[in-house]
Amino acid sequence: VPEIASRAHLERILPVLAETLERAATTLSELDAIAVVNTPGLAGSLLIGLSAAKALCLTTGKPLIAINHLQAHIFACRVAFQENPFPCIGLIVSGGHSNLYRCNGPIDFTLLGTTIDDAAGEAFDKVAAMLGLPYPGGPNIQKRAEQGNPKAIHFPRPMLHEEALQFSFSGLKTAVRYRIAGTGKTDCSSVKLSDQEKADIAASFQEALVDCLVGKTVQAIKQEKMTTLCIGGGVAANKRFREKMEAASQKEKFRLFVAPLTLCTDNAVMGAVAIERFQAGLFEPLDLDIVSGLVRN
Ligand code: KG4
Ligand code: ZN
Repeated sequence: VPEIASRAHLERILPVLAETLERAATTLSELDAIAVVNTPGLAGSLLIGLSAAKALCLTTGKPLIAINHLQAHIFACRVAFQENPFPCIGLIVSGGHSNLYRCNGPIDFTLLGTTIDDAAGEAFDKVAAMLGLPYPGGPNIQKRAEQGNPKAIHFPRPMLHEEALQFSFSGLKTAVRYRIAGTGKTDCSSVKLSDQEKADIAASFQEALVDCLVGKTVQAIKQEKMTTLCIGGGVAANKRFREKMEAASQKEKFRLFVAPLTLCTDNAVMGAVAIERFQAGLFEPLDLDIVSGLVRN
């Protein structure tokens, strides 16, 4: 709920700032610059962060740095493995995004493709809800899938054999819904499934979604003639996804960096991206605005 999210940001931003300075044993006057995420995200939440950052810049006279949140998900691999992965293909798979990038450097990304409907994590969460599993759906589907047969049901793999670098997960989600509720029906809540049926649906759905992610990403690697792949975002925590990506990297001979579990979800690597921009002298004027949607370049 965007309104609740922005109110929560408003209430927390000053206590978080105070606690951060305290834990880092530093003060505002010791900082070199103030960095803030201005894209992408919910407009209200981004505006609160940006307004706070601008206020800090005005009062301290420090320069302002703008961060693209998604670049931090890829930079998590650079931080974790202490190896330079650039240039590489970047895949970000989270609750809000399924994006493929050509990453020329840590702060130089070109969007190659995205989803035309649901994000991968969103599909996990929605299918989990159909199966009566709690949020976040991804880890719960993964757990159920361990008891199931991934070949029990053949769910569609949308876009997999199309030329376009695009994902689409809503057709897969609908196929699962029809499988549970019956063709053309939408109500899954009144259907009683056995534990084995739930496990088979979870495993077969997960397999189909992972096949789409792996297939499209390999296509992007070939198209861009890249030899390295970096993956970040919450869905990158998925065990089956990691296994199948690992197998693809052996078969197609590319270097694979997947963010460690602790850095898959949102984290403070954004601060490390800020250092890259600081060193490149990339500062912003104080009339900087937010960009809620996806930036292509
Ligand atoms: O990157 P993230 O924390 O943030 C947002 O999108 O805000 O990603 C959260 C998403 C959720 O949709 C969750 O279901 C999914 O990542 N996720 C997983 C797993 N762990 C988290 N999906 C599949 N398998 C997992 N093990
Ligand atoms: Zn994120």
